[in-house]
Amino acid sequence: MCFLNFALTIALLCAVRAAQIPIQTLATGTVGVDSAWSDLSALPGANATGQLIFDTVNSLLQHWPNTRYRNGHNIIPGSVPVGTLLYHGRANNSLPTVPEWTATDPEHAYGFCGGAPGNDTNIGCWQLTFVVARPLKVLYFDGSSAANMKAGAGGTQDVQDLLVWGEVDHARWIDERGRINGLCEWGREFGIEGYVRMEMDFEIMICDFTVGVELLAADFLAAWWAHFITPPLWDPASQSADPGSTRPRPRPHPRNNSEPPAAALLRFETIRAGSWHNRYPGETRVVLDLSRLVSFYDTALVPSLIPHRAGLERWDHRAQNISAADLAAVTERLRALLASTSESSSAGSGVDWKTMYRVVVDRYAERLELLQYLLNTTTTETAAARGKTIQGQLRVMLTPYTLHAARPVVGGPAGDGWAAPVWRGCATRHTAHIHASAALSARLTASERLLLSALDETGREICRVVVRMWAAGVRAELDSVIPVAANAEDIPHVVEGWRADANALMQWLDWSVWVKCRPACGVEEMCYLPTWPYFGQWTGEREKGDDTEKAPPWKRPQPRCIRLFEPYSPL
Ligand SMILES: *[C@@H]1O[C@H](CO)[C@@H](O)[C@H](O)[C@H]1NC(C)=O
Ligand SMILES: *[C@@H]1O[C@H](CO)[C@@H](O)[C@H](O)[C@H]1NC(C)=O
Ligand SMILES: *[C@@H]1O[C@H](CO)[C@@H](O)[C@H](O)[C@H]1NC(C)=O
Ligand SMILES: *[C@@H]1O[C@H](CO)[C@@H](O)[C@H](O)[C@H]1NC(C)=O
Ligand SMILES: *[C@@H]1O[C@H](CO)[C@@H](O)[C@H](O)[C@H]1NC(C)=O
Ligand SMILES: *[C@@H]1O[C@H](CO)[C@@H](O)[C@H](O)[C@H]1NC(C)=O
Repeated sequence: MCFLNFALTIALLCAVRAAQIPIQTLATGTVGVDSAWSDLSALPGANATGQLIFDTVNSLLQHWPNTRYRNGHNIIPGSVPVGTLLYHGRANNSLPTVPEWTATDPEHAYGFCGGAPGNDTNIGCWQLTFVVARPLKVLYFDGSSAANMKAGAGGTQDVQDLLVWGEVDHARWIDERGRINGLCEWGREFGIEGYVRMEMDFEIMICDFTVGVELLAADFLAAWWAHFITPPLWDPASQSADPGSTRPRPRPHPRNNSEPPAAALLRFETIRAGSWHNRYPGETRVVLDLSRLVSFYDTALVPSLIPHRAGLERWDHRAQNISAADLAAVTERLRALLASTSESSSAGSGVDWKTMYRVVVDRYAERLELLQYLLNTTTTETAAARGKTIQGQLRVMLTPYTLHAARPVVGGPAGDGWAAPVWRGCATRHTAHIHASAALSARLTASERLLLSALDETGREICRVVVRMWAAGVRAELDSVIPVAANAEDIPHVVEGWRADANALMQWLDWSVWVKCRPACGVEEMCYLPTWPYFGQWTGEREKGDDTEKAPPWKRPQPRCIRLFEPYSPL
């Protein structure tokens, strides 16, 4: 390895050694650029979903992005590692004999514990702690897939309902018992033992508590919160409100500060635990096998949803109107993928897609954010000075791809064709080896081919826009390396174009890492996105909102700071 050093001599040595390496590469980025890379103004297709697949895959098992966009589009097999603790709040200490819900964090399970003897103030409740005794085979539904959004207002459970029931039946929005039993029934032939979903925090629905998990402890805990939930969870009458479900739910909370402190604490701590998994790497107690992912954003597999998304904002994308033929194709694909592996080996090529995606986000997320900031703030600098700063950032992003020969030629062809090799290098370098290797390509599963094309599409667009901006800066004589003799463009005009380009790219990518509280929260607060069910689900406010043209605020969740301790912020 030849490290570039500040010492020029070392740099020269590196150059000499590099020159001795025979030039035979997978990524042919040096000569000749075909027509695919000639037009820097070619926008991605209006119905293309590469960026949506990219973002949803990069967001798997992370609480923040799946709270922001609640309607999941992916089904992914995975496993839960040995030694993982799972918590189950319960009305007694008997082992569940039917499928039941467990939480990955005790804070989440605590709200479901019950079974108080007597009616004095020293009420207790049962918490069962299980440990995973061998890798547990699970299926994960992304989005807020455990959120019971009422009667068609949501879309959070479309994917699982289509799988289990073959339709989205709005009347069964709260039929959680039917869902869990149906899922466990559906997956039995593939040995699926649990289903991973998300609401305020992550949960794993366990199909059979006698296999794969062992009871570690059955504790009768002090239930400090119990007095503030009415009617009491251990009262059978309290469950009549959720027909078909035996799963206790916290009752409606007054949405103001006079809410009983214990109830607010209970609610807050569940949200708090969920927030530990907000950002990458998210909930790490589930390990996904991306080589067997199925996406409803796959336009080849699910073309019928394309017209249903037309003109809709991303919040409103949902799976319910998939055609019968496409649903059959999805199910067949999933069944084939689930049947394709043994206990120990994955069907995949060995490519680490999670990291392949992450590398792109790491490399561009902060830099694009900085770029947008530089373009959106006024300074006392001259336009040229600020322009040079921005051009410097663009050049930094493209450094690994800015070939020495990539520069406009005096008297050469008009336009930015000279920059095409930079665009191609930037867009193709990360996946060139996969495309070039017939053996590797042949090993890709259908899921991996989808992941590859989403990565290519996303990289192509990022690089297109950044190269286009950089080339505009060259034309405006703002680049530190490439001098341009004539026809310098007007700087304010270039900055105007930059701003439009950067904003359009970031809107297209729509990465949730950019959604944060601004200004950042104080030490006594955390940043929060409206999370089901704390936006009026139980009070009727949600239904009211659905009747109006104007979407209620929970529909497009915006971040805000909430207090970490009493008095808790109203949610
Ligand atoms: C324990 O509670 C569950 C509900 O949480 C109930 O279905 C079950 O019958 C109870 N078992 C016993 C032994 O009481
Ligand atoms: C609850 O406790 C009160 C006071 O000790 C007692 O009067 C009442 O009978 C108890 N109710 C039940 C249902 O046990
Ligand atoms: C806050 O909630 C309490 C309990 O439900 C209620 O009595 C009170 O009127 C509410 N206050 C406001 C300002 O809404
Ligand atoms: C996108 O999909 C809509 C609805 O199916 C269709 O009318 C339109 O022609 C498509 N646009 C492109 C660019 O493919
Ligand atoms: C979409 O599906 C829902 C639920 O199955 C149904 O009520 C609705 O009519 C469908 N809409 C269209 C446009 O097909
Ligand atoms: C740009 O700056 C304005 C004014 O400071 C601010 O309101 C706006 O949110 C900023 N836009 C972006 C995309 O950062």
